[in-house]
Amino acid sequence: MRTILPDELSHRDRHQLLLSGVSPRPIAFVSSIDAHGVSNLAPYSFFNAFASKPPIVAIGPAIAAKTGRVKDTWANIMATGECTINAVSYAMSAAMNITSSEYGPEVDEFIKAGFTKAPSTLVKPPFVAEAPFAMECRLMENIELRRDIGGNGNLMLLEVVAFHVADSVMVDGVIDPRRMDLVARMGGSYYARAHSSVIFEQQQPPRPVIGLDALPDHIRTSPVLTGRDLAILASVPELPMYDGSFPRFDTEFRADAAEIELAAGNAMAALYVLMNDAERRHDRIMLHRIAACFLAHGKIDEAWQTLLME
Ligand SMILES: Cc1cc2nc3c(=O)[nH]c(=O)nc-3n(C[C@H](O)[C@H](O)[C@H](O)COP(=O)(O)O)c2cc1C
Repeated sequence: MRTILPDELSHRDRHQLLLSGVSPRPIAFVSSIDAHGVSNLAPYSFFNAFASKPPIVAIGPAIAAKTGRVKDTWANIMATGECTINAVSYAMSAAMNITSSEYGPEVDEFIKAGFTKAPSTLVKPPFVAEAPFAMECRLMENIELRRDIGGNGNLMLLEVVAFHVADSVMVDGVIDPRRMDLVARMGGSYYARAHSSVIFEQQQPPRPVIGLDALPDHIRTSPVLTGRDLAILASVPELPMYDGSFPRFDTEFRADAAEIELAAGNAMAALYVLMNDAERRHDRIMLHRIAACFLAHGKIDEAWQTLLME
């Protein structure tokens, strides 16, 4: 592990190091209008949400390090106090990239990149019709970041006054993230895509969980279970007891090769094979592999019971 102090790096290297480590970042696709009514659209990944009552988000338009030029987005929001922030789906990402070219303030990037203007309800700048989610925002405060030492950053705090959500991303009245297919910015020219195939769920514990230090030694020192497996096992509210009736198989169960069942992700079938093999039924490594397989499929109770069979 190396330790680096910001002053040891060139501006470029410091910028890249920061952006590679603070990653992936959501992208605000910001629509604003100048004093002459010209539309502007540009991506900003110094972006996040900071409060929900009232909803406050922030973006960080920098002053260009080389030219000292301020971003059109920043100048427009300072002049008018308004913008919309639009989410960027994978389908929008290549056209979004076009809008990040350094066009002059007279250029309307909606037209350059082929996005459609949808009329906002409370602010003048339109939102992006193709975006699955958009927010109408009013400037709360612009904070200049360390101008006293030559800093080039701004933090624009924006209050959200209206949301727009595509019907197609809503399931049972809430946004289904798998339908958003959003992209995020990483270091260099890398992006991440929150595709449905890589999204996973993890419930925040509603009350204190047992923690890693409470795991029995034979589990904590497992040569098979990963740190992530152990953390999932440690996320139960109390230490489980062995339930004498586990495992229960239905009579028609058909399985005779534990390795094949594990490769197929069928932990219960692998356990069935093990239980029917008098020589292997106490094989600790195999029991832990089966538990890991249960965990990989979100079956925490079954994983615990398998480990407690030892
Ligand atoms: C995905 C992405 C994220 C970006 N994030 C930022 C950012 O957070 N701050 C910034 O100053 N520039 C950022 N840029 C660069 C601006 O989008 C670029 O300078 C753009 O031309 C600014 O447009 P404007 O002058 O019309 O506002 C980003 C570019 C891309 C492609």
